[in-house]
Amino acid sequence: MAVKPVDKIWMNGKMVKWADANIHILSHVIHYGSSWFEGIRCYATKKGSAIFRLDKHLERLYDSAKIYHAEIPYTKKQLEDAILETIRVNNMKSCYIRPIVYRGYGDVGVNPLNNPVDVAIAVWEWGKYLGAEALTQGIDTCVSSWTRPAPNTLPTIAKAGGNYLNAQLIKIEALKGGFAEGIALDVHGYVSEGSGENIFMVKNNDVYTPPFVSSILPGITRSTVMVLLREAGYRVHEVMVSREMLSIADELFFTGTAAEITPIRSVDRQPVGDGKLGPITKEVQQRFFDVVRNGNDSKNWLKFVYND
Ligand SMILES: Cc1ncc(COP(=O)(O)O)c(C=O)c1O
Repeated sequence: MAVKPVDKIWMNGKMVKWADANIHILSHVIHYGSSWFEGIRCYATKKGSAIFRLDKHLERLYDSAKIYHAEIPYTKKQLEDAILETIRVNNMKSCYIRPIVYRGYGDVGVNPLNNPVDVAIAVWEWGKYLGAEALTQGIDTCVSSWTRPAPNTLPTIAKAGGNYLNAQLIKIEALKGGFAEGIALDVHGYVSEGSGENIFMVKNNDVYTPPFVSSILPGITRSTVMVLLREAGYRVHEVMVSREMLSIADELFFTGTAAEITPIRSVDRQPVGDGKLGPITKEVQQRFFDVVRNGNDSKNWLKFVYND
């Protein structure tokens, strides 16, 4: 599914035409993976277009850059305004938003510190990430033979471009094996996450999700879902999850900006529970969609784009 161009992309403070949003081939990011980015959604809620948890996404972007000693040459407020402007200038009702910070053109060695820190913001239309029926029917997954990076190799709390080489291997292996997504383990063999999603399991009405130290990206949908589940009265445990728990779970689901809350119906061809959308997954989906579709927001999670 090729991306559908829109009119403008924000680059280093200027709106440029989509086709002109280019960088030099010797930019540091191309050679050494030095970028930090976000995936954010703007939803067409019943109350108007609204960005979901923009403040938390910006916080993670600045944290990701800081880990790599990259100083973003804009304030959070400036990038927030730039994101709003990019949506408005392209007249988007709903879209995916991709702010990206990257080491640009200058020096060509591994040392990044002499290269500029550049920033761009693109928006585009976004469909269902894991297939049209994924949210209701669930998806088939496998446990990947690739593990997530060990803690002292690549920091997974940073949403860094380079981390997605690992994600690509997980995704390719899954797709070639006939699965929609792979579940990666951490270096110790505990469950970590999908190539682009966090994972939750339900057993006897309690909910479990791997902690940060299991080499996960701290997902914003993950933290949202933890709030919604606790509000609904469930106990949510952030604990190491051993692989065999995937076999005996009553329900499993992925969370992510792209995947939203996607049920997992099988792991390595073994059905999860009865293989159907489970009641707790369904309940948390409903609570989530009540915010992002109906616009019922009691927690200031939505930033309205046009009618603020
Ligand atoms: C590796 C990885 N884990 C988890 C997530 C889910 O994070 P979020 O809910 O913030 O989109 C993503 C998506 O950004 C991801 O790429």
